[in-house]
Amino acid sequence: MAGSKSKAPFRIGVLLSGRGSNFLAIAKSIREGRLSGVEIAIVLSNVADAPGISAARDLNLPTAVYVSKGRPRAEHDADLIGSLREHKIDLVCLAGYMRLLSPGFISAFPNRILNIHPSLLPAFPGLDAQQQAFDYGVKVAGCTVHFVDEHLDHGAIILQRAIPVLETDDAHSLADRILAEEHIAYSEAIARVASGDYEMRGRRYVKRQRFDTGN
Ligand code: GRF
Repeated sequence: MAGSKSKAPFRIGVLLSGRGSNFLAIAKSIREGRLSGVEIAIVLSNVADAPGISAARDLNLPTAVYVSKGRPRAEHDADLIGSLREHKIDLVCLAGYMRLLSPGFISAFPNRILNIHPSLLPAFPGLDAQQQAFDYGVKVAGCTVHFVDEHLDHGAIILQRAIPVLETDDAHSLADRILAEEHIAYSEAIARVASGDYEMRGRRYVKRQRFDTGN
């Protein structure tokens, strides 16, 4: 329509290896209008029979599988980079992607890769974070969405959601309740990045200050 300016959608590429519940939560937020102006341009998996990739097919989203097993990391990552570029993605979202990224991948998308981790970083990086937190005896647990840099579970934090650890919890119930928070957190984090309203100050990802000149 003449005169109407519609902004191009913000295109995300999702990388997953497993059940894909975070991916599905993002897809649901988009579908239900809670994550507006964002579209899933491609869903990639390194595992051929990952439930998340069949869920993406069921949603008629573009998908591709690049099996990583037995392949050199840099070679496999070059395929991913090619696919993500071909689909003109603005942001890469790791959603249970169980493989370390090569330095080449990280530098191909500077400050354009997000990850979700099921602990309040910097506590409990690495595998089985919920079990680590439970065994440590923390009273507050949660999840973190952060930018990916070359160190494990380390890049600048976009947002965190915290929950109390209950006396009645075991590691499984705690993980389930953290997962429910993850499903809220990831869409909120994508919305922040897509908005363009935030900037990095040191390690702090904060709202841009807008100066009104009054003119
Ligand atoms: C989530 O707990 C996420 O925090 C971690 O891997 C798990 C992926 O779960 N990085 P899903 O595949 O999104 O259900």
